Amino acid sequence: MGNRSHRNAGHIAMNSLKKAGKSHASFNSAGVGIPDSTLHAVLTRDCCSLLKELPDESVQLIVCDPPYNIQVAEWDSHLHYIEWAAEWLREAERVLLPTGSIAIFGGLQYQGEAGTGDLLSIISHLRTHSSMLLVNLIVWNYPNGMSAHRFFANRHEEIAWFAKAKGYFFDLDAVREPFDEETKKVYMRDKRLRPESVEKGKNPTNVWRMGRLNGNSTERVGHPTQKPQEVIRRLVRGLSYPGSTVLDFFAGSCVTTRIAIEEGRHSIASDLDPTIHDYFFKQVSGLHAQLQLGSHGYQYEVLDELAFHRHPVFREMHVSI
Ligand SMILES: C[S@@+](CC[C@H](N)C(=O)[O-])C[C@H]1O[C@@H](n2cnc3c(N)ncnc32)[C@H](O)[C@@H]1O
Repeated sequence: MGNRSHRNAGHIAMNSLKKAGKSHASFNSAGVGIPDSTLHAVLTRDCCSLLKELPDESVQLIVCDPPYNIQVAEWDSHLHYIEWAAEWLREAERVLLPTGSIAIFGGLQYQGEAGTGDLLSIISHLRTHSSMLLVNLIVWNYPNGMSAHRFFANRHEEIAWFAKAKGYFFDLDAVREPFDEETKKVYMRDKRLRPESVEKGKNPTNVWRMGRLNGNSTERVGHPTQKPQEVIRRLVRGLSYPGSTVLDFFAGSCVTTRIAIEEGRHSIASDLDPTIHDYFFKQVSGLHAQLQLGSHGYQYEVLDELAFHRHPVFREMHVSI
């Protein structure tokens, strides 16, 4: 495939905006600002029943790490995977704001693992049954993993980023990676480059090299498939804005809630397994331990079942684009 950037209309338009010192419309409309305090619902629910309770166009980002259908745990087997997924995918699209996105974790199944569906089936389903746009297939490349003797040991998982519509929000500056000192010096001397752009750093690309959590990682709260904070943080920073709502209806360890608290986003986390509340307690204890180590404070409130109706998603918060 050729380099898409040179003739791509969207890319050309973004470059002209950049030259004029302007931002994309989705960025301007997202001017909610950092709230004084954020609200976080932690619930025990089936994904579909939770989604049915949420209003249309109320959520900016869905972090979605569904069962993989490879029997890693009791919840990880679905005889009719894609039929089941179709229901929550349809509802997820409905609740997303026009600027919103869903980031779906998963992998491609091989050999005898192959059940009735995987991320490939989800992507293919969305291409034919949804108007959402596949923005990136992010390859999460980790250096640590299982060994193998009959095939190349697996070192990647995918994150399919779908946007609700063309005007999706993306804050590249919030997720740029700094250039190393040597490269920075060379670029700073290059008259064709603007120093402020060099200072901002580079696009982290769609290949993310980030370790998986080892068994003894201090981030672990006990969930078998807990995702690293670093991965979730990049999604939250890039695809949502302060004061918007991040939803995770397969919340597991509640790592998304923890990151939402730290990044000034509201959140809703739910899982079929009631242990979610213990995991959340451990996440918050971790946050507080971090505060004692000198990190700045966070103002947030946790909403239980009875107070869920107070969550900002139930307020009118349409963003025009
Ligand atoms: C892959 S794990 C998510 C892990 C999570 N992203 C983390 O980093 O900790 C999938 C989760 O979905 C939950 N789950 C499975 N079926 C569900 C359903 N129908 N509704 C809600 N949660 C479900 C499981 O209990 C499990 O915690």
